[in-house]
Amino acid sequence: MPFDAGAYGRYVADVYDETYAYLTPDAAVDTLAELADGGPVCEFGIGTGRLALPLAERGLTVAGVEGSPDMVAGLRAKPGGQRIEVAVGDFADTRVPGEFALVLLAFNTVFALPDQAAQVACFRNAAAHLRPGGRFVIEAWVPDPAAFRNGRALRPVRVTEDDVLLEAAVLHPAEQRMTTTKVRLTATGVQLLPANHRYAWPAELDLMAELAGLRREHRWADWSRRPFGDTSSDHVTVYRRPERP
Ligand SMILES: C[S@@+](CC[C@H](N)C(=O)[O-])C[C@H]1O[C@@H](n2cnc3c(N)ncnc32)[C@H](O)[C@@H]1O
Repeated sequence: MPFDAGAYGRYVADVYDETYAYLTPDAAVDTLAELADGGPVCEFGIGTGRLALPLAERGLTVAGVEGSPDMVAGLRAKPGGQRIEVAVGDFADTRVPGEFALVLLAFNTVFALPDQAAQVACFRNAAAHLRPGGRFVIEAWVPDPAAFRNGRALRPVRVTEDDVLLEAAVLHPAEQRMTTTKVRLTATGVQLLPANHRYAWPAELDLMAELAGLRREHRWADWSRRPFGDTSSDHVTVYRRPERP
């Protein structure tokens, strides 16, 4: 599978919403609406609007950048999806006109970029979209190489009576890459959902933010703002563009 901006959507767009229907966006939307301080909001990797549409329903103006025309088609098909301005392109370097109060990069999507250089470019692109005092919010997992044995891991993501989601992963530590295929098993059959990740620890993301002129304001363990700590598997981190340079 190639590491390009449209690759994920080509495999996943058709089943994205039903696969991730179990993720309740309420805590994310509450926290983001507060941080957005009236908006506007730009979401990098806006996808089918899982977070963007409820944010727009809160009265915020929302725009996005998305690499997959297939995911954009899913967004457009939903109520309110036509009203969201989306630039189709790579969020490492695609600009949406305007100055934003908040740029969002949720659900581990920073790791969809192929290497450190592209991730640094993405932080700079986020900073370029922000008004002074604006925020860049990232949600991502904390890398856990100890979960792998001989470079391979299989983990149940979600198990219910009639819907099982597994993740099979191969680690390439020299390049901080992980290739995964999610395997979804339901009564109608099996689906394979591949994704590439160039992972980074929170400290490396903090350095990328520094390079882009952003300062860390918060790091939480999740969207309900629990404290981040030694055992946190994920983080929600808020970076801020200074009011004055
Ligand atoms: C895991 S999905 C998250 C979608 C949405 N943000 C959500 O939380 O449901 C990642 C999204 O980012 C898009 N994407 C991945 N790499 C991209 C890139 N380099 N530039 C633009 N979009 C990208 C994918 O097409 C997909 O829609």
